[in-house]
Amino acid sequence: MYKFDEIVDRSNTSSIKWDPEILLENFGVEDCLPLWVADMDFEVAPAIKEALVKVAEHGVYGYSGTTKHMDAFMNWVERRFDWAIQSEWLLNTPGVVTAFNVAIQTYTRPGDQVIIQRPVYYPFTDAIVNNGRRVSSNSLILNNEGRYEIDFEDFEKRAKDPNTTMFLLCSPHNPVSRLWTKEELSKMMQICKDNNVLVVSDEIHADFVMPGYTHYPAATLGKTYLDNVITLMAPSKTFNLAGMQLSYVVISDEVKRQQFARTLEQSSIGIVNRFVFESAIAAYNDSEDWLEAVLEYIHANYNYVRDYFKKELPKITIHELEATYLVWMDFRSLDLTLEELSEVIFKDAKVGLDGGDWFGPEGEGFMRMNLACPREIIEKACEAIVTGVKKVK
Ligand SMILES: Cc1ncc(COP(=O)(O)O)c(C=O)c1O
Repeated sequence: MYKFDEIVDRSNTSSIKWDPEILLENFGVEDCLPLWVADMDFEVAPAIKEALVKVAEHGVYGYSGTTKHMDAFMNWVERRFDWAIQSEWLLNTPGVVTAFNVAIQTYTRPGDQVIIQRPVYYPFTDAIVNNGRRVSSNSLILNNEGRYEIDFEDFEKRAKDPNTTMFLLCSPHNPVSRLWTKEELSKMMQICKDNNVLVVSDEIHADFVMPGYTHYPAATLGKTYLDNVITLMAPSKTFNLAGMQLSYVVISDEVKRQQFARTLEQSSIGIVNRFVFESAIAAYNDSEDWLEAVLEYIHANYNYVRDYFKKELPKITIHELEATYLVWMDFRSLDLTLEELSEVIFKDAKVGLDGGDWFGPEGEGFMRMNLACPREIIEKACEAIVTGVKKVK
């Protein structure tokens, strides 16, 4: 019913992912196949496009404001995660990255330590460093079965450090695609609660969960955790609306919510764009079957990648896709230096992937591939990578 196989030409649309100059800057070639930045090459759900066309055709674009999209979001969260959010708990920011920067500015002081779990989405590190705070990396451990785990002993040690005031959680985790279990999340929430460490839970990928897995919002795992967790969610990854810039910040604790709102007011950060409201309403109210269909398509893309490498180049390990549309690939057994690996993948194979090292030194030797594109592009990229690697190994 949806045409996910169709290639939509994104050239000359100001797309960061496809811009030749940006590709040249990042990968040293301007004509590589871009499977990096986390947006999708698919057209949005029909209801969203219709809603946006309607706003565009109206022709008047003055200041706007509504709470209708809040209702749509709350219904969605209740339906999908069985979490009844109260409307007064909600604030908006133009994006999740803005939200966690504001959280750092609001609840921590310069010099404080913020725990993150590298390799992790690189704007986490940037937000901490740019605000003059310090990174405390509870680096993930890769176990013998090739699955990432949390080093709880180290986590607790870091949480107990009096200089640590915040934990920035990535749940589900980008880039390693772990969907944290109830037990793992509860354990982290308890340690943070016991040590007075505020949790900011980035759950932007919460809707992108693969068959057999379940996402639990961290704040819902115990009554005593709720007021110690700031939850960040958004329609941007779920419905391919990143360019709309909207995120929901859930803060049940009134004092904390007022503090966050104050920081927003200090820079007059708000959302007044009607395209944003209408697209979010159409997404949450009328696009659920599109999401189910895109999840299925992406899961099949993942199976294709996993099977292709298993057959053609088993030395490259494709990690399990538990959540997100980003697959984590392990090239370490090729024994290439970081420069050699980048040369092979970016310049020789001409495939633009996120370098694993972008997510912290723990990611060196890995790469992250974006699976949210037509199968034909995935096939071309896989073939180019295998051909490129076989030339040197
Ligand atoms: C974990 C995570 N947080 C935040 C974002 C971006 O959020 P936004 O575009 O809403 O600022 C991404 C995008 O890839 C992400 O993976």
